[in-house]
Amino acid sequence: MSKGALALLIHGGTDNWSPERFEDVCRDRRVILMPATGFDPADVAYAAVWKPAPGELAAFPNLEVIFNLGAGVDALMADSSLPDVPLVRVAVDDLTNRMMEYVVLHVLMHHRQELYLRQSQATKRWAPKYQWPASALSVGIMGLGTLGLRAAEVLKTIGFRVAGWSRSERQVEGVECFAGSAGLDPFLRRTDILVSLLPLTADTRSILNRNLFARLNRSSPLGAPVLINAGRGALQNEADILACLDDGTLGAASLDVFTQEPLPASSPFWAHPKVVLTPHNAADTDPDEISKYVARQIAQLEAGGALENVVDRGRGY
Ligand SMILES: NC(=O)c1ccc[n+]([C@@H]2O[C@H](COP(=O)([O-])OP(=O)(O)OC[C@H]3O[C@@H](n4cnc5c(N)ncnc54)[C@H](OP(=O)(O)O)[C@@H]3O)[C@@H](O)[C@H]2O)c1
Repeated sequence: MSKGALALLIHGGTDNWSPERFEDVCRDRRVILMPATGFDPADVAYAAVWKPAPGELAAFPNLEVIFNLGAGVDALMADSSLPDVPLVRVAVDDLTNRMMEYVVLHVLMHHRQELYLRQSQATKRWAPKYQWPASALSVGIMGLGTLGLRAAEVLKTIGFRVAGWSRSERQVEGVECFAGSAGLDPFLRRTDILVSLLPLTADTRSILNRNLFARLNRSSPLGAPVLINAGRGALQNEADILACLDDGTLGAASLDVFTQEPLPASSPFWAHPKVVLTPHNAADTDPDEISKYVARQIAQLEAGGALENVVDRGRGY
């Protein structure tokens, strides 16, 4: 019997995700780039997807596994017709390390007063300010999962005081861990730089709002707390961020994600002097790495092993 086919349902970025990449690593399996004709949907056992249209996956009656080609599954979870089969998300070192780079870059940028220094350079102003050590700042990471843990590890090595907030209790050496709604307030009160690496779920939508920013520590050398969001745009209330930057509740923000992407040219974030923005590229996925990850998981499953990084649909991540 021939092996179940792998269908690729990829919207936006198909150039990067050529079927040849998957054919190279799934040599004895048919790989079908959708939309396609001349195949029986009943032959498709696996789907590798990026932003499939709602209802698109329901076309395969014998689907066994859905592989999301990114870490966040919020777009898929919004599809009520999503087949009830295991949904696997990406968790690979390559992506994890790219996100670590982004977080470390932006924490260091605020810690080392880069916004002030660049403005000084632009106006040819030689006016160094006192520079405190890393140990003077508390970085709080919301989401101590695959990405948050790696960033915490490196920030700790640099010398920052690091804390993390998760849904369930965690223990991480050298990281002060807080969990659930009871842990949120003490976590915020000791945080100078807030890093959001949360998944978007019903519980986390709009969590980054004025009420939360107002509870961050205000007595660090930074003067006012800083927000770094590389999770998802819908985690943040953008009107609140702008108002809090303007009234000093927040000192600065690094934003990689937005409620509307691409960010419209009319957005005040583009030109805001206290905002460092990037176009949702904090951690791109490497297609070679991810296609190998999918092929390895399929081989593992067909050899009687278990799938890794299966999404818990009840939790939503
Ligand atoms: N900007 C980019 O380029 C980019 C790239 C990749 C990923 N992302 C985003 O990053 C997110 C995180 O990825 P990941 O691989 O680290 O995910 P993960 O391993 O699933 O970790 C998620 C973390 O968030 C915590 N969490 C979830 N819901 C919570 C809640 N209601 N309250 C408190 N903590 C909660 C989890 O708590 P537990 O530990 O208790 O489960 C876990 O620690 C993705 O979902 C995606 O949206 C962005």
